[in-house]
Amino acid sequence: MSFSIERVRADFPVLAREVNGQPLAYLDSAASAQKPNAVIDAEAEFYRHGYAAVHRGIHTLSAEATARMEQVRQQAATFLNALSAEEIVFVRGTTEGINLVANSWGGSNIGKGDNIVISQMEHHANIVPWQMLCARTGAELRVIPLNQDGTLQVEAAPGLFDSNTKLLAITQVSNVLGTENPVKELITLAHLHGAKVLVDGAQAVMHHAVDVQDLDCDFYVFSAHKLYGPTGIGVLYAKESILQEMEPWEGGGSMIATVSLTEGTTWAKAPWRFEAGTPNTGGIIAFGAALDYVSALGLKQIAEYEQTLMQYALAELASVPDIQLYGPQNRLGVIAFNLGKHHAYDVGSFLDNYGVAVRTGHHCAMPLMAFYGVPAMCRASLAMYNTLEEVDRLVAGLKRIHRLLG
Ligand SMILES: Cc1ncc(COP(=O)(O)O)c(C=O)c1O
Repeated sequence: MSFSIERVRADFPVLAREVNGQPLAYLDSAASAQKPNAVIDAEAEFYRHGYAAVHRGIHTLSAEATARMEQVRQQAATFLNALSAEEIVFVRGTTEGINLVANSWGGSNIGKGDNIVISQMEHHANIVPWQMLCARTGAELRVIPLNQDGTLQVEAAPGLFDSNTKLLAITQVSNVLGTENPVKELITLAHLHGAKVLVDGAQAVMHHAVDVQDLDCDFYVFSAHKLYGPTGIGVLYAKESILQEMEPWEGGGSMIATVSLTEGTTWAKAPWRFEAGTPNTGGIIAFGAALDYVSALGLKQIAEYEQTLMQYALAELASVPDIQLYGPQNRLGVIAFNLGKHHAYDVGSFLDNYGVAVRTGHHCAMPLMAFYGVPAMCRASLAMYNTLEEVDRLVAGLKRIHRLLG
């Protein structure tokens, strides 16, 4: 399938609606992306004609649902170029994936005197679980600093690693700045010190192909809802040798081999050991449809289209008086900005009146806001269904706000 913006937009029913009397310009996909019919239909079809609980049933519907769920695990493995489907754990999203690693792997491998390296541009989901682990264990959190242009001070990274560094937890792409970090280089550095690496791929997987074998990361996490899939589903990839050694973090049904009140309990093998309880099967099946949809369009074609949009948006936004753009020229997916002295919330509400949906606030990245000395930013996301005309409307809206409010 070749990339046609008209055809892509036609696949997303919500894009046809109006907001405040204007056509919707949805520029908030980095928070959560809209869903194509293929995803909506897959979930509805499962509930209409195929629904049953997985794993425990011998009957046809249960067996079918189990097979479909396991097929999506294989799809996710292929999507990340993992070695096998058994390296894929279904979680609720990036946040849960990181918490799983912090509690399970972190609980067994990180202790007093150890340290964990993160960066100053992390989403709270890749800060707070490590802070909690450090508070529990007495480990230390170290932070790779930023340059003013929103890139990492990569040259400062080697000084943060030592023989007590157990983990580097780093985002591949910043959810505020759009910066793509040199994760491969940092993974090599961490491995030289014997540390494992978790890559937060929440803002990367929708913009280009990811190959976990090529990266050689130990853990990789992302959420389906930012990849045009449903909410409540995400993926934790972990190298099989590491995953098989990890203890479960939640107990319950489906994650055991045997349970005895006298002999104790033994665990199922990974990845099922990490999936206690009845899973979100409808969400997993719809996630499979999202992976099919994105793969059919081609991440290469998506990336090319999005880059055209991004370069156009950066050039046009630069013409808005008193605008402050944050982040490097070379970036993926998002453009964060402030307009003069106006609070981001005010700018966001004005834009909403014009039908332009942007995110405002601290973007779950308070340490990054502190770095730039602002409480909040506006953030426009550019996804594969956005258009040059929507960028024009964003820019026109900002110029109008500047004219009206100064
Ligand atoms: C870089 C990054 N990491 C983690 C998350 C958390 O994702 P979720 O809320 O889907 O768990 C987000 C979501 O905004 C993100 O952008």
